[in-house]
Amino acid sequence: MKKMIVSPIGAFDFTTDKIASDKSISHRCAIFSLLSDKPSQIENFLGAEDTMCTLSIVQSLGAKVEKNGDMITIIPPKEISEPPLILDCGNSGTAIRLLMGFLSTCKGFFVLYGDSYLCSRPMRRVADPLRKIGALIDGRSEGNYAPLGIRGQTLEAFEYESKIASAQVKSALILAALKANGICSFCEPELSRDHSERMLRGMGAQVLSQGLKVTIHPQTAPLKPLDIKVPNDPSSGFFFAVAAAITQGSKVTLSNMLLNKTRIEAYKVLERMGAKVEFIEKNNVYDSVGDIVIMGRELHGVCVEENISWLIDELPALSIAFACASGKSLVKNAQELRVKESDRISSVVKNLQLCGIRVEEFADGYEVEGGILKSATINSFGDHRIAMSFAIAGLISPMHIEDIDCINTSFPNFLELLSQIGSVNAD
Ligand code: S3P
Repeated sequence: MKKMIVSPIGAFDFTTDKIASDKSISHRCAIFSLLSDKPSQIENFLGAEDTMCTLSIVQSLGAKVEKNGDMITIIPPKEISEPPLILDCGNSGTAIRLLMGFLSTCKGFFVLYGDSYLCSRPMRRVADPLRKIGALIDGRSEGNYAPLGIRGQTLEAFEYESKIASAQVKSALILAALKANGICSFCEPELSRDHSERMLRGMGAQVLSQGLKVTIHPQTAPLKPLDIKVPNDPSSGFFFAVAAAITQGSKVTLSNMLLNKTRIEAYKVLERMGAKVEFIEKNNVYDSVGDIVIMGRELHGVCVEENISWLIDELPALSIAFACASGKSLVKNAQELRVKESDRISSVVKNLQLCGIRVEEFADGYEVEGGILKSATINSFGDHRIAMSFAIAGLISPMHIEDIDCINTSFPNFLELLSQIGSVNAD
């Protein structure tokens, strides 16, 4: 397993358009291309482990993929083919959950599985509502854990009220609804990221959003193909935003970033903490895209308890900013963090404590008392966002990060970019 040492080199002014492409949108591009009968053109598709797993599953289901420079063309099959092999989702919760919804309506038998981390994440949140409308899904612990076996069926129309704000659950159910026996609706307690609704509407599907409710009409004909340039991922860019925010006198300019409101909340928290943050919209096709500029200033603690699903992926990196701020920061209502790529409440708390920071853990969050980050040996717990968050802490005090291979799941060029603002030794 690879490890690395990251050490500070001082203040910086860093501009990049090389932040990894958006992971959520890339997964959806691959899966949604199967809903059309014409080739989809996708520029800037994320070439990281998670999304390459999805692309290779889409190929196992019969699609052809052609690559031409920065552009991929996905040519959908006439009919989904039943693959002879099991389908490997790697580390990706988005891949497995969206595919559960999609495959539940496809003719054939399919087995979805992933790495040891993914196989210990809960799948009942998707399997249960799908089974209620007739899906045949089984797996370990009564279908809660992968490997999952799915036999495609015609599903009944549904009206489902989800107790959790999860874009993965919502997207799985929207995909199932497109092939169900009537008009369906899905309600969530708080708006989760809405890329599926926007992209499917762009492809001509009747997916109507009204507040927290989505109404889905069954798809009667193939959808229009996708023709999209995937913007850069604000969740990946956020590591560099925190880097600028905690290093006073530093500035980072991130170009070609997705500016969807459900994805930039963490930048707004940094702003509340005292950093200077500017969003500059450049265009708006399926979604708003532009530049984000972040400047480091003195930071103070905050309370984060609302719109948690809008910053769930950024909380580990935000915790590094909390540790560098004056005063206390509190995270509440974030129990979903416990079922991400690792138990992120526990991973953040344990590693911050190793850095000499006072942290108190709760069932649904934690409280961090800002202080002085000390050098430590960090356990990534095989979680890409934990490894990258503590790599950023290395810009304040040297950090040894163990097991960094996981970074490739979402941001293969992270170290290359990090080495432009800090000293990085990986082996
Ligand atoms: C994602 C949704 C989020 C997020 C994940 C990507 C998506 O998960 O944490 O990294 O692409 O739909 P939940 O929707 O389950 O919270």
